Amino acid sequence: MKQLNELYRKRWRQNRFDLEERGLRSFPLKEGRKIPRRDPLGVLFRLFKWLLKWTPLYRMGEKRAAKIHLHENLIATPVVSEGSLRILHLSDLHLDESNFELDDLLWTIKEAAPYHLVALTGDLVTGWPISMADQGKIESLIKALEPSLGQYMVLGNHDSGHLVDFLEVRGLKVLTNQIHRFEKGPQCPLTFELIGTDDPHYFFQKDALKVLQEGQKEVFRIAMVHTPELFQQAEEAGIDLYLCGHTHGGQIALPGGIPIVRRVYRGKKYAVGKWRYRNMTGFTSSGVGTSSMPVRFNTQSQVVIHQLVPMKEASSPSS
Ligand SMILES: [Fe+2]
Repeated sequence: MKQLNELYRKRWRQNRFDLEERGLRSFPLKEGRKIPRRDPLGVLFRLFKWLLKWTPLYRMGEKRAAKIHLHENLIATPVVSEGSLRILHLSDLHLDESNFELDDLLWTIKEAAPYHLVALTGDLVTGWPISMADQGKIESLIKALEPSLGQYMVLGNHDSGHLVDFLEVRGLKVLTNQIHRFEKGPQCPLTFELIGTDDPHYFFQKDALKVLQEGQKEVFRIAMVHTPELFQQAEEAGIDLYLCGHTHGGQIALPGGIPIVRRVYRGKKYAVGKWRYRNMTGFTSSGVGTSSMPVRFNTQSQVVIHQLVPMKEASSPSS
């Protein structure tokens, strides 16, 4: 597994930096064909933001976006017979453009303790280099996390590949089409595998599909992917739990939390919250932060705790 991870990291590094430097994107629907990166909704968003700023709604949306909620999600599985695995799921912090207070986030994380694992599903901060202020925020966040099994991240479409070295020397491991196995023991309630791919929305590489197929199908397998767009390939590869973000729950949604814009090419049905696809359970976090404009309507900024529980304990619906 170590050798495989090293090989995948090497190939990932080459391809990721090539895509970044040339301003290209690669998506699985086009079988990894590289095309120029464009945001067709960018102009529309800027116009909408400018118009919204003149209304009292903007302030309301800002207040809503700044308030972080702790969401608990129970996942019933026959693989857990006693005790349970708790995963702190953070996503889409967008530290350079969000308006939440870091202290509020750290307080919410403290409230969520204890947890075994941290899973950060991308979009921590846009581009590279990053400001000293954002570096400080990341360092404070990493120090505040207290998982017994470690903290893991996958990159989002906003994150630069250069972020990986910066994060790893500070203790946050980035899975770049890589896999990590955890063995059952005093600190770990079950044997499981954690598989992390690079963002499939902009930075898809074929190794992302290969790594989903790696490992042992008999153990519980968790995939971390920035977007829900690999849902089908992950289920076919026997993934049990798929954690992602990217959509911000729409960020601006209709009453009832129905997103207007999802920003995914596949898996639009799986753009918000808990979902199920055939034999796989998934969760798409609404994220902690915001992108394009610091407002939310009919969606929440959230930190999520996933708790794996035996089937009998999960008869009550998730909160
Ligand atoms: Fe994203």
